[in-house]
Amino acid sequence: MTRRNRTLRQSPALREMVAETILTASDFIVPLFVTEGTGIKEEISSMPGYYRFSLDNLKKEANELWALGIKSVLLFVKVPDNLKDDACSEALNKDGLMMRSIKAIKEVQPDMCVMTDVALDPFSPYGHDGLVKNFEILNDETLKVLAEMGVLHADAGADFVAPSDMMDHRVRVIRAALEQSGFTKTGILAYSAKYASCFYGPFRDALDSAPGFGDKKTYQMDPRNRTEAIKETLDDIDEGADIVMVKPAGAYLDIIRDVKNIANVPVAAYQVSGEYAMIKAAAQRGWLNENAAIAESLTAIKRAGADLIATYFAKEYLKGRE
Ligand code: PBG
Repeated sequence: MTRRNRTLRQSPALREMVAETILTASDFIVPLFVTEGTGIKEEISSMPGYYRFSLDNLKKEANELWALGIKSVLLFVKVPDNLKDDACSEALNKDGLMMRSIKAIKEVQPDMCVMTDVALDPFSPYGHDGLVKNFEILNDETLKVLAEMGVLHADAGADFVAPSDMMDHRVRVIRAALEQSGFTKTGILAYSAKYASCFYGPFRDALDSAPGFGDKKTYQMDPRNRTEAIKETLDDIDEGADIVMVKPAGAYLDIIRDVKNIANVPVAAYQVSGEYAMIKAAAQRGWLNENAAIAESLTAIKRAGADLIATYFAKEYLKGRE
């Protein structure tokens, strides 16, 4: 034998020395669900161990995350049914829950990078990401609302806006609106390669935002395709995205790698609610070692090429390692 491949695996010290993929707290973007009220910390039924917070508890959570070294959160709001309308007008309410959530976090953790979801589904009676007319999801009409939303989030203090809607040209329109309004420091995290995935199911429970009719296949990508992930990503970079994202992560590791190979901006990947639910459910039954499954799934996403990972497991991962 000229060389034995097991030599580099024989001790923890050696394995640590040659490990190629290292996860750190600053890799993580933590999605947070916000609801109206006070003293609320509601568990999401299909996401055991994950919660919707009212603003007071949101602040506590932000403090806890910051203490663990986490640098970024991604905010989603749950909107009561009586505030949902065809125009998605609550999305443009200056005192809406999103604006108050941004301010609440900045109040307790001014250095936290606050990212906000920009899409219409939480505000739409149809649960679709764009405006709806005659069962059709309108593209260009939606862009105006998204641009205005982006400006409102920036005005409330968001560091990054994160369009998750998959309308064509939304990055360009949001960027132009931010520039015109003087928000020259606000970043855009674009959900560039976002697939029409069944793995978003639990998230739609969290926000009560399941589509009321049809599905999202006319705007989100077909899971059978990889070439258009490149097209979507290049378009978003061209339109001014600071960070691009692939979503979901676990079943799309090949796409993360493809995107990483062509992107000249940081690449994020979103380990979505269904990925969280699968690991939780198996662990609850004693079928998987939870900490090991969390670490391995996150490591695989980073190894595939993700510079940043949006995940519901950030806290557990960092605590499990202590
Ligand atoms: C909607 C949105 C979704 C997620 C993030 N933003 C669901 C969807 O597209 O229907 C999914 C996140 C997750 O499943 O964790 N704009």
